[in-house]
Amino acid sequence: MNLKGKSILLGVSGGIAAYKAITLCSKLAQAGADVKVIMTESAVKFVAPLTFQTLSRHHVVTDTFEEKDPSVVSHIDLADHADLVVIAPATANILAKMALGMGDDMLSTTLLAATAPIIVAPAMNVHMYEHPAVRANMETLRERGVRFIEPGEGQLACGYVGKGRLAEPEQIFAAIIDSFEPNRPLQGKKVLVTAGGTVERLDPVRYLTNDSSGKMGYAIAEEARAMGAEVVLVSGPSSLPRPAGVEFVPVLSALDMLSAVMERLEEMDVIIKAAAVADYRPAEASPVKIKKKDEELTIRLVKNPDILQQVGARKTKQFVVGFAAETNDLEANALDKLRRKNCDLVVANDVTREGAGFGTDTNIVTILDKNGTAERLPVLSKREVARHLLQIAADRLVSSGGE
Ligand code: PMT
Repeated sequence: MNLKGKSILLGVSGGIAAYKAITLCSKLAQAGADVKVIMTESAVKFVAPLTFQTLSRHHVVTDTFEEKDPSVVSHIDLADHADLVVIAPATANILAKMALGMGDDMLSTTLLAATAPIIVAPAMNVHMYEHPAVRANMETLRERGVRFIEPGEGQLACGYVGKGRLAEPEQIFAAIIDSFEPNRPLQGKKVLVTAGGTVERLDPVRYLTNDSSGKMGYAIAEEARAMGAEVVLVSGPSSLPRPAGVEFVPVLSALDMLSAVMERLEEMDVIIKAAAVADYRPAEASPVKIKKKDEELTIRLVKNPDILQQVGARKTKQFVVGFAAETNDLEANALDKLRRKNCDLVVANDVTREGAGFGTDTNIVTILDKNGTAERLPVLSKREVARHLLQIAADRLVSSGGE
């Protein structure tokens, strides 16, 4: 990802999540962006300006009246040279100042002068985030064209569990790339992605599942969104943050996933089944905890419906992509799945190879169509695998007249 030639103004306001802005600043600089950082007085209490200065190779501005270069007015100069303004983390206070048009410090004053697009990643306590004043300020800003990256849910620094954690730097970075990305081959398309493993209950405290982390499916969902698609992500349990700008449908069992996919099938243009669906489920889920009694316990399993096969059987205009997790005869097995399940493409991953398959950040895949190999890829990040896959899907949608 190349941000060479792009000037990004990064505003850091005062919250504990300011530490995550360091990673963001580093990623932006590594991608070639010219990053200039403004910190509020409170942000400086959490993180030293020197950290950002070292990463961005620019002096970090904190004071409106610290005019180091007499040839320019610093807040106007910073505002004028920005191709994009990113506020991460954004506190309730900076949101209120932005909504009201206040300019009482360097960041808010510069924001008043900025004409570039603005991306805001809020972070605060869950109750502050839900406060009607904060919601109203965000709504006002949204109406003015400010783009928000929703905070994640989870353990907050204040001790509460809920929504308010700053989105991960990778997510904010992806949104920044997205804002510069002119190539949107999936614009106007609806893409449904399944991800993660399913959970098949044995009793209230035990279940059968597998090692799928959701990384492959989430990367596809994020990339499809970046390529302009409207994305639905149907996900089994995963510890990954929910991708921004994507409709998220959490599911547990294969049967839940089947309903979630089938309900939406008709309106979709592309279906990508990266999930590792359990082939079998316990014939009965015990309503009470199964007791330890005999030396042996036999659990009867029954076959789950094959969601991909049902999609393949019912598809009309949909471009259908299956995954094949194989340990032997990779391409022959994958091609067999493609034909049996009526897929347009199948992504074969040899899950025995290092850097491929379950839980890893990378994957090694061969993408096959009914005529054989469409693309054989080396070890790549799952996001890059997603990009290759979606580009093939987009090209084929166009050539089949789906434009
Ligand atoms: O989530 P990660 O940790 O990133 O790992 C990624 C992955 C290895 C899980 C992913 O890349 C992958 O290979 N997913 C498919 C795993 C799998 O279940 O493969 P399969 O060969 O058993 O199934 C073939 C296809 O049929 C898959 O698209 C699967 O979603 C689908 N299927 C399978 C069974 C079933 N009952 N319903 C289905 O829809």
